[in-house]
Amino acid sequence: MAEAGEKNVRRAGEGRREDPALGQSSPRTERAAAELAADLPVAPALEARDLTLSWDGAHVVVADVDVTVAPGEVCCLVGRSGCGKTTILHALAGLTTPMAGRVLLHGEDVTGRPGRVSYMLQKDLLLPSRRIIDNVCLPLVLAGMKKADARAKAEPFFERFGLAGCERKWPSELSGGMRQRAAFLRTYLMGADVTLLDEPFSALDALTRTDVRRWFVDVAAELGLSALVITHDVDEAVSMASRIYVLAGAPAAGEPSHVVGIVTVDRVTSESFELTDEYLAAKREVMALLG
Ligand SMILES: Nc1ncnc2c1ncn2[C@@H]1O[C@H](COP(=O)(O)OP(=O)(O)OP(=O)(O)O)[C@@H](O)[C@H]1O
Ligand SMILES: [Mg+2]
Repeated sequence: MAEAGEKNVRRAGEGRREDPALGQSSPRTERAAAELAADLPVAPALEARDLTLSWDGAHVVVADVDVTVAPGEVCCLVGRSGCGKTTILHALAGLTTPMAGRVLLHGEDVTGRPGRVSYMLQKDLLLPSRRIIDNVCLPLVLAGMKKADARAKAEPFFERFGLAGCERKWPSELSGGMRQRAAFLRTYLMGADVTLLDEPFSALDALTRTDVRRWFVDVAAELGLSALVITHDVDEAVSMASRIYVLAGAPAAGEPSHVVGIVTVDRVTSESFELTDEYLAAKREVMALLG
């Protein structure tokens, strides 16, 4: 069991385990995520290359971060509170410009250019004074679409997002899971095929969270989305991702965070994946990397 998980871990700086030479490489020169990108037959949907980020230009929050999300893949970035996950999301969304490194979308350099990926920020709540349909349509209206056209575009998705009949309701009339699906529909309508989600399910109770995670993985596959989900919840990461990037460090103490390992999850088709040996092996590996 443990071996099954262990063989799927790449510590940052290591290549494949079966190549003895790679184990001696410098973490800065031999990067697993970059290798993964090179292995793909097409350009990755999203790539962070050597990202070094700072909010003030002086204190480095994260250094030399490489992340690769293949087309149609759901990956997670997991790390403890304050290690720099949201900082990375802002850079990937083009909301900030890195000190060093690049962000590539389907091979195109989009570093520092917003509007190219869809994203849901950590506290991205629905506006209480707008009906669900108008909350969901917000990105379209902000992009200049007429309200009626935006509604016509959004309405067909309500059923697939489990929101049929909720169009005219207020956010306060929906359950937490429904609100989260509405927020995700709003994100989806931003129109990009690459989605970044920051702690999307953390406010939900455990059972709802499990349902919404499963729903998200299914709907992402159906819509052909590539997603990077940011979380501090190891269970969330293992239950959703095919690959987990583990971030560790203490930027507030002057120790920039790095990707310390990548765990590949052996997905087995099972209604109860969370009870399988493969699940537990992957969870153990992520927890070991987090320290
Ligand atoms: N807007 C900002 N301006 C200045 N510093 C910031 C800003 N946002 C975050 N930081 C600092 O950057 C570091 C990383 O914060 P970040 O929000 O990226 O962590 P996180 O991993 O997302 O944490 P959490 O899991 O609690 O959301 C912290 O030291 C934080 O104080
Ligand atoms: Mg955060």
